[in-house]
Amino acid sequence: PRSIFFSRHGESQFNVEGKIGGDSPLSERGMQYANALPALITDNIGDAPLTVRVPLLSSPLHRNSEMIVLYLFTRKVWTSTLQRTIQTAHYLPYPKLTWKSLDELDAGVCDGMTYDEIEEKYPEDFEARDDDKFNYRYRGGESYRDVVVRLEPVIMELERQENILIVGHQAILRCLYAYFHDLPPADLPYIKIPLHTVIKLTPKAYGCDEERYTLPI
Ligand code: F6P
Repeated sequence: PRSIFFSRHGESQFNVEGKIGGDSPLSERGMQYANALPALITDNIGDAPLTVRVPLLSSPLHRNSEMIVLYLFTRKVWTSTLQRTIQTAHYLPYPKLTWKSLDELDAGVCDGMTYDEIEEKYPEDFEARDDDKFNYRYRGGESYRDVVVRLEPVIMELERQENILIVGHQAILRCLYAYFHDLPPADLPYIKIPLHTVIKLTPKAYGCDEERYTLPI
């Protein structure tokens, strides 16, 4: 059966500083996660690249005689266009695709702020978000509802593909996770998607099986 794998990017500089959004690079710990991720996938999830020998047809001198070794990858990696996901996926030996639609929820005027700074500068917005986190739209930015809509093409493609690993962001992975587990919108913004953890979802006739692999980094 096919599985879908989700991981947040490794810890970023902004995560360390408690700032939201932005396009900061990975922290030292985040880099350790990026380094450890290929082994986590091959050891725990059992996906060593497959080696096959195929006839070398392209060379007239060696037609039907020489063999070359190809690595067939059973997985593809999708990232956002933000450097923290691209850095996290860097060492994975799989074809990679970047999706703008996978970029983190746009916090508009609050991008780059801490939650304390938002509460101080925009107290009404802070309260409104607490009252209805799914529908609250940041000034000049997005709501979770907006993100669910922009993820529709990603989900359609995900449904057509085998064994995709998405290296993504907290809000984005909450939306994708809620889709596969059929969770209600009101619960969606509170789903726990920890750092340095790979979540494996295996869709069944009804619902999904789930396993989690956490690296002690
Ligand atoms: O703090 C990391 C982060 O990915 C931010 O960039 C983003 O705004 C936030 O998490 C989303 O989580 P919440 O909706 O709970 O604020």
